[in-house]
Amino acid sequence: EKTEPLKIMISGAPASGKGTQCELITHKYGLVHISAGDLLRAEIASGSENGRRAKEYMEKGQLVPDEIVVMMVKDRLSQTDSKQNGWLLDGYPRSSSQATALKGFGFQPDLFILLEVPEDILIERVVGRRLDPVTGKIYHLKYSPPGTEEIAARLTQRFDDTEEKAKLRLKTHNQNVSDVLSMYDDITIKIKGNRSKEEVFAHIDTALSELLQQKNSAPSSL
Ligand code: AP5
Repeated sequence: EKTEPLKIMISGAPASGKGTQCELITHKYGLVHISAGDLLRAEIASGSENGRRAKEYMEKGQLVPDEIVVMMVKDRLSQTDSKQNGWLLDGYPRSSSQATALKGFGFQPDLFILLEVPEDILIERVVGRRLDPVTGKIYHLKYSPPGTEEIAARLTQRFDDTEEKAKLRLKTHNQNVSDVLSMYDDITIKIKGNRSKEEVFAHIDTALSELLQQKNSAPSSL
């Protein structure tokens, strides 16, 4: 019998480790990783008018307007792979209006994960972050350095990864997080993100395997 795929949201301050945990989660559970930030950066790279507008907000660490973000995420969630394999939504919703819009389209998560990391640590993580444009992998100069010289030489930095811009992103996050949390109260788990990525993942992994068991043993109503 076919099992119900998982539908997960992951949230947390800038550099709390969302993208890093999403790599580990998709590797084990095969969910489709949908990152609102990555979708927006792809839109910028495409040179579209929406991308140009989005970048103005991202430069200031502010939320990109719903009219750009909501349909972008909805369209990705509606694709066949997301429906069949389940999804892992990263960095969305960031406001109650985004949560309400998604609910209106019929997308309801099984679990909402919040990564909690003290603010002083976040800035150090942002400034040391590097990305591999070839594999998409996330590195950190100190905590997660690349394994070869070849990779090290091609790493890039995000345009909003300065201390100043990270502080603006953090402010936006702090203004919105309680609104979003209040909409997923009953399905939220809070995980301390201030430990090694393997330890953080171990906690997420436990929660996800329990959830899978529940979903597969529950009667197929609901
Ligand atoms: P987005 O791209 O989502 O950025 P963010 O929320 O600021 O989060 P980050 O990607 O910076 O961090 P992360 O939590 O994924 O951390 P990572 O794993 O890389 O959004 C960017 C912008 O787009 C927003 O500011 C906004 O303008 C716009 N936007 C996005 N979504 C939107 C929406 N829904 N609505 C409107 N606008 C939206 O880790 C960070 C670093 O730490 C890495 O170097 C990593 O190696 C290291 N690290 C990770 N885990 C650990 C660990 N356990 N120990 C030590 N180091 C670690």
